[in-house]
Amino acid sequence: MTSNQNQSERILILDFGSQYTQLITRKVRELGVYSEIKPYNTSIDDIHELNPNGIILSGGPDSVYAENAPLPAKEIFDLSVPVLGICYGLQLTAYFHGAKVGESKKREYGLAELQVDRATDLLRSVPASQVWMSHGDALTELPAGFQSIAHTDNSQFAALANLEKQIYCVQFHPEVSHTVEGQKILSNFIYGICRCQGGWTPSAFVEETVTGIRSAIGRDNVICGLSGGVDSAVAAALVYEAVGDQLTCIFVDNGLMRKDEAEEVEDTFKAYFKANFISIDASNLFLAKLAGVTEPERKRKIIGETFIEVFEEESNKIANVKYLVQGTLYPDVIESVSTQGPSVTIKTHHNVGGLPDVMRLDLVEPLRELFKDEVRRVGKELGLSAKILGRHPFPGPGLAVRILGEITEERLAILREVDAIFIDELRNHDLYDEIWQAFAVLLPVKTVGVMGDLRTYENVAGLRAVTSEDGMTADWARIPHDVLATISSRIINEVRGVNRVVYDVSSKPPSTIEWE
Ligand code: XMP
Repeated sequence: MTSNQNQSERILILDFGSQYTQLITRKVRELGVYSEIKPYNTSIDDIHELNPNGIILSGGPDSVYAENAPLPAKEIFDLSVPVLGICYGLQLTAYFHGAKVGESKKREYGLAELQVDRATDLLRSVPASQVWMSHGDALTELPAGFQSIAHTDNSQFAALANLEKQIYCVQFHPEVSHTVEGQKILSNFIYGICRCQGGWTPSAFVEETVTGIRSAIGRDNVICGLSGGVDSAVAAALVYEAVGDQLTCIFVDNGLMRKDEAEEVEDTFKAYFKANFISIDASNLFLAKLAGVTEPERKRKIIGETFIEVFEEESNKIANVKYLVQGTLYPDVIESVSTQGPSVTIKTHHNVGGLPDVMRLDLVEPLRELFKDEVRRVGKELGLSAKILGRHPFPGPGLAVRILGEITEERLAILREVDAIFIDELRNHDLYDEIWQAFAVLLPVKTVGVMGDLRTYENVAGLRAVTSEDGMTADWARIPHDVLATISSRIINEVRGVNRVVYDVSSKPPSTIEWE
């Protein structure tokens, strides 16, 4: 619902498969203009309908001459809408305007020094500066109607302009932070050339979304499953703002939360949603069903099904429920142009995902257009606490997928203590906010140690901390060794039942973030 079809300004990003497409979109939004991604082959009628103020052609891995190279509708250059082609977008624009594109003598990957030859329009106030290049093909001649506006040592045509048609192209990537003046260049395009006014702000989003939700829901009732995470909390807060008492938020304590987490979540949400918040302690039911289960997919299935059972029972007590709120984010809804190969289930991710089918409810997804950082800003605008908004992602199946092997009360208690110390020390060293996600896992192995003069034979705890943009890919966080030393010695000294700590140095792919 709350689609931004009415958004008064927008920059359309046509996606040719670049790893940076989402980044372009985010950079434009950070500059204050709504932007959205569509596949490269979006029809000209659909583009007309979107009525963009400007179009950006993303980069992409292909060569314009390759068989099956992604090509857009050629009319995009005749819409009287300014166009900015980036990397593959430049080659494509040149190709469509009759110029030859060939394999570069020198492939160019990495930093280059941009020399500006025409410092107006796109490159207004842009000094000679570093840019990020990543291309194999290059232009060998200027397309008709275009002039070169910048060059580098290796690229005669690092930026082009067709002033009459308002078409601009850059061979480098303005969206990546290595391009020092990248934001300036994008800003010149959206404000100077496309003449946008700006106004994509959290408060404008809240105002517009709340009005949209209110008219869509009318007098019916709506429910939301709160997990304690950022997305469901912000989604619920928007709906609460729109329809107040018609919303009921349900938090199911599955007994698999971290130390003191269930209480913290309850206190925070009781204060925010007041009487519209219900908390159910179903931990005994979950733990009973998980007894003796060691296989990761079985654990996930049991937890997903039990959640639905408990949630459905509770929501059946509420009259006239027609809608279910979900915290779906923009990266989940973008139609990807990359070919993903055969799809295999790596992990079943169940949240409330299975609910609408079972319960026949219509979905309210107020965050469908937002990136995670925008969700946090909207949450702040709505007055949600910094603690909730800054939290690392936490999987629906909770500690069940972080205890490898059987889940018991005793093992849960050990893991909770280890995890709490790890997070506590990351906060003490100001590292928590730099890390996408950090947590401990409990391994199903025991090792020998020595404490005082005695032999010990205890559990191994694994620590995992990753940096990431979106959880799809991740790198292990380079936590300083002395901080790891402090964490390790605190864990071994303070947590009974652990005599060894290991740090996970695997990236995703090929590993995943969670261990199960
Ligand atoms: P993986 O382990 O697949 O995790 O690399 C990617 C991100 O997803 C989170 N995750 C889940 N989130 N329900 C969730 O809501 C799940 O079942 C689930 N499994 C993994 C994980 O914490 C990471 O942020």
